[in-house]
Amino acid sequence: MIDTSRREIAPVEGRLGVLLVGLGAVATTYLAGVESVRRGLGKPIGSLIEMGTIRLGKRTDERAPAIRDFVPLTKPEDLVFGAWDPIPDDAYQSAKVAGVLAAEHIEPIAEFLQSIKPMPAVFDQEYVKRLTGTNVKSGETKWALAEQLREDIREFKSRNGCDRLVIVWCASTEVFIKQGPAHESLAAFEQAMRDSDPAIAPSMLYAWAALQEGVPFANGAPNLTVDTPALQQFASDRSVPICGKDFKTGQTMVKTVLSPMFKARMLGLSGWYSTNILGNRDGEVLDDPASFKTKEESKLGVLEHILQPSVYPDLYGDIYHKVRINYYPPRGDNKEGWDNIDFFGWLGYPMQIKVNFLCRDSILAAPLVHDLALFSDLAQRAKLGGIQEWLSFYFKSPMAGRSLTPEHDLFIQHTKLKNTLRWLMGEEQITHLGVEYYDYE
Ligand SMILES: NC(=O)c1ccc[n+]([C@@H]2O[C@H](COP(=O)([O-])OP(=O)(O)OC[C@H]3O[C@@H](n4cnc5c(N)ncnc54)[C@H](O)[C@@H]3O)[C@@H](O)[C@H]2O)c1
Repeated sequence: MIDTSRREIAPVEGRLGVLLVGLGAVATTYLAGVESVRRGLGKPIGSLIEMGTIRLGKRTDERAPAIRDFVPLTKPEDLVFGAWDPIPDDAYQSAKVAGVLAAEHIEPIAEFLQSIKPMPAVFDQEYVKRLTGTNVKSGETKWALAEQLREDIREFKSRNGCDRLVIVWCASTEVFIKQGPAHESLAAFEQAMRDSDPAIAPSMLYAWAALQEGVPFANGAPNLTVDTPALQQFASDRSVPICGKDFKTGQTMVKTVLSPMFKARMLGLSGWYSTNILGNRDGEVLDDPASFKTKEESKLGVLEHILQPSVYPDLYGDIYHKVRINYYPPRGDNKEGWDNIDFFGWLGYPMQIKVNFLCRDSILAAPLVHDLALFSDLAQRAKLGGIQEWLSFYFKSPMAGRSLTPEHDLFIQHTKLKNTLRWLMGEEQITHLGVEYYDYE
């Protein structure tokens, strides 16, 4: 039975420290956005928390408060920021290199951006081949490096007078790592840290340090990171929220909107070809086949999960799904994605849809960082430790409990998120049944 009484949520008092791993395009676009919003220079478009409303009760009740008024969430004014990056540029320099925002949006807040200087990172080129870092920690073992991260976390919290912290991974995509024995249990994981086992990537050290310090961890990249039995168990034992993986922003977001349409109408699919050109640093990192493999796995799983070929073999038993990312510097952060979808209808007659998405990657990702930081903190205050499946809405490869298949359909994810907010606040779930409005015998 689900407990429908209002959950106890610790008050949203004091300052929330948001620590970003990686101070690149996404992170600086997020930081510049929050500061612009705080100064009334821009609007937080794309943030469900800042722009969204939530319907409560019956349609005829006309109760639809803003989400930020309904649930106790930290206000943008109460956020403080820190970051780690192997590149020593402060947020101002990094935003200029990223080339996402125009000078008119960077210059008025230059001082704020300059004040965010990255702490030395735990970085190893073995895991991100196309980057060279100089602002890097050194330590005898991976364990020792993670202990330094713990110290950074504690020091940041006390220096900035924060009441609570959250960590969001906005750093590069690491090479593909298959889950193995080192990730099976916390004991094996910690032994592997002491042995500096290659199965322990830098991102896992940040995640472990966060959990040790009781800090929620959200993973915006497709790396394995916190999605292992060892760290999942650790997070639920410690009652610390975790979520991931890989911000759902561009082509995959469109995919998780269109594919449920085919399935809802029982239309078949024979092929889906997706290609992108992208010229930012993320594109450069993904040009390395090992990092691309991590991204590819994250992007490919979506159709399989939504379309359930084993349940509908006639419709989805034979799909050719291809995903390509091509590094093309002139395009910068303004990615262009093409999708060619071959589908079929009545008696198998073929049809096509073509999508040409001219998007701005970091503009789409920045509000997700914001929502994830605030919702992860809400989850922590509501004592929801472990995997936050209700935050699947934000991810390409949503984490789910061991025996569960993840939910990919954007609108089911959206309903799940809002119903979780209603459940937290002791409000009725909305099922969209609707019979209550009609006078049936
Ligand atoms: N923008 C989007 O729409 C989107 C969508 C999904 C996922 N992502 C992921 O978000 C991440 C960030 O994207 P971006 O465009 O900002 O990339 P970016 O290359 O501009 O920034 C990444 C930053 O991470 C730093 N970094 C690398 N390894 C690190 C480490 N071990 N510790 C600390 N910092 C480290 C890099 O030096 C770089 O400054 C990437 O993994 C990307 O795949 C982005």
